[in-house]
Amino acid sequence: MSTATVEKPEAGAADSAASHKITVTFRIRRFNPEISADASWQDFVIDIDPKERVLDALHQIKWEEDGTLTFRRSCAHGICGSDAMRINGRNRLACKTLIKDLNPAKPITVEAIKGLTVLKDLIVDMEPFFQAYRDVMPFLITSGNEPTRERRQSAADRERFDDTTKCILCAACTSSCPVFWNDGQYFGPAAIVNAHRFIFDSRDEAGEQRLEILNDKDGVWRCRTTFNCTDACPRGIEVTKAIAEVKQALITRRF
Ligand code: SF4
Ligand code: FES
Repeated sequence: MSTATVEKPEAGAADSAASHKITVTFRIRRFNPEISADASWQDFVIDIDPKERVLDALHQIKWEEDGTLTFRRSCAHGICGSDAMRINGRNRLACKTLIKDLNPAKPITVEAIKGLTVLKDLIVDMEPFFQAYRDVMPFLITSGNEPTRERRQSAADRERFDDTTKCILCAACTSSCPVFWNDGQYFGPAAIVNAHRFIFDSRDEAGEQRLEILNDKDGVWRCRTTFNCTDACPRGIEVTKAIAEVKQALITRRF
């Protein structure tokens, strides 16, 4: 059996990597209900390469400064949607945000996304968000016999909902929406995006049902077209446009 070996970097290479580091202050909103009912800001001053991402900085702080710092992450590559947080006042994925793009000469603020209950530090209770997602039935609904081969669809029909297939359920849109902040009852942009993905799928047969669900007092009509959601989406989905298309489908019943 062969044994893999990890080469130790040359001393010069390590020195050159270290020389790219700068000193950055991360101002993190901390909350631990077992210690205090109030949240507070805590500064961590670390040396880090500005080409690293905010997620790398959070790892460095957790592993080298304070192991109690709590946040979600999984893929580290913008796919799982678990590390949406408010960075310098804007919703972003920590794993897709480079420190150099955040004016690191000033303290970089990191806090939990808004509108959902903070459980600890940067972790919020995602259950209301996922309940709204479940409510719009985010799966293909068809009737009749099981097909003996794939359900065919033209390229043009597939294109109709291509944008909304890209959602990674990070909640950056919903938690940037002032209507959602108000009472948390609004379905929110992400649920509407995921309803859109099936309403406009030519193979699906439950578009009418989904439209009726979103015709609710807490449905699409509460959208005030602030575009916060579109600005926040790390996948570049035209969220506001998708919501407008669902509103239009409710009026015309054509989709
Ligand atoms: S629409 Fe964009 S911002 Fe909203 S949950 Fe999906 S990926 Fe995240
Ligand atoms: S850790 Fe998966 S999207 Fe950032």
